Amino acid sequence: MVAVMQKHYDLFLACAPGLEPLLHDEVLALRPVSAVAEPGGVAVRGGLDLLHRVHLELGLALRAQLTVDRSAATRLDHLATHAATLPWHAWLPVGANVTVRAHARGSRLYHTGAIAERVAAGIAVRLGPPRAGGSEQTVYARIVDDHCALSIDTGGEPLHRRGYRQATAKAPLREDLARAALIASGWDRKTPLVDPMCGSGTIAIEGAWLARGIPPGHLRRFAFMDGPLFDPERWRLARERALDKALPAAPPILASDRDAGAIAAANANAARAGVTADLDCACAALGHAPGLRRPPSPPGAVVTNPPWGRRLGGKQPLRPLYQSLGTRLKELPGRWRVGLVLADPDFARDVVPGLKSALMTDAGGTKIYLFAGTTRR
Ligand SMILES: C[S@@+](CC[C@H](N)C(=O)[O-])C[C@H]1O[C@@H](n2cnc3c(N)ncnc32)[C@H](O)[C@@H]1O
Repeated sequence: MVAVMQKHYDLFLACAPGLEPLLHDEVLALRPVSAVAEPGGVAVRGGLDLLHRVHLELGLALRAQLTVDRSAATRLDHLATHAATLPWHAWLPVGANVTVRAHARGSRLYHTGAIAERVAAGIAVRLGPPRAGGSEQTVYARIVDDHCALSIDTGGEPLHRRGYRQATAKAPLREDLARAALIASGWDRKTPLVDPMCGSGTIAIEGAWLARGIPPGHLRRFAFMDGPLFDPERWRLARERALDKALPAAPPILASDRDAGAIAAANANAARAGVTADLDCACAALGHAPGLRRPPSPPGAVVTNPPWGRRLGGKQPLRPLYQSLGTRLKELPGRWRVGLVLADPDFARDVVPGLKSALMTDAGGTKIYLFAGTTRR
């Protein structure tokens, strides 16, 4: 399939709340024509190369949406006739099974079911009926103040699903949030990284990918790959170029957890992510965590996501665990960066006094905080 080339594509890259400035930085590294951070994400303009590279190289976005049309919208019947005038075959695969998701605010049109139905009918006129086994595609119709924006979800599965995390332990941290925590912790990506409560290894694996510059989307497929916007040669070259640039090894990354099942999951995930040689995963309770008992040098960062209580059974019983983490961190020689992913900011004081809130976001309805700072010595 050959893409019908447009000069520029307008994408909205959605991310977890609070991550917009970090995602903006990530996007700027791809040299877009423009990139503007907005509540909920970053609006980006760029060519077909950029459209491929946002899927391949961004690690903090959750969704990529290609805006294909903006129009006034005050009548339902006009929605269908207008949608039928758009060149959907330039963006979506023929025979696709298109789901339209509608949203309406402050507008004469408010019945989201009817809006979705009319837009879907208009798309079907241009694209033809869905074929059995046709590609699954999603189109968004957002009507705000009587204006409708139509966009295509070019990613499909949320972008944080890198494809390596098929084994999980209890309460896994989403990959985008692990990456954000590592960035916001101030870890320099050159010195050692320790996660003594690593669960399925997300922080350690994202740490290895960050340190080596491995592109987060290189293992998986995206929805746009089924359609005319996808240029396989362009993808192959971009992927090859990014992987060629990746460093051959990460600094020492020591991950441990007291749960043997979690360590098995972390090892299996690390193998799929291609970072087995970068990670040292051990089954050990906090007091025996190799990264804290025999810390590598020079000092680096301890970034960890201890149990939150809400999901894993109550707050008070966890206090000793946080205090014990604090004791271990105080014993570390030299000055280490510390990054803690918490659902309760009170615990930060138990670990290291003076840690500052570096990031506040939301994971599936739970407010979460990243506290960052350094050990005192
Ligand atoms: C919230 S989970 C970490 C999830 C992880 N970030 C991931 O993405 O899978 C907290 C982890 O702390 C571990 N843990 C709890 N108490 C511990 C202790 N005393 N020593 C070591 N690990 C402990 C649990 O086994 C659990 O895997």
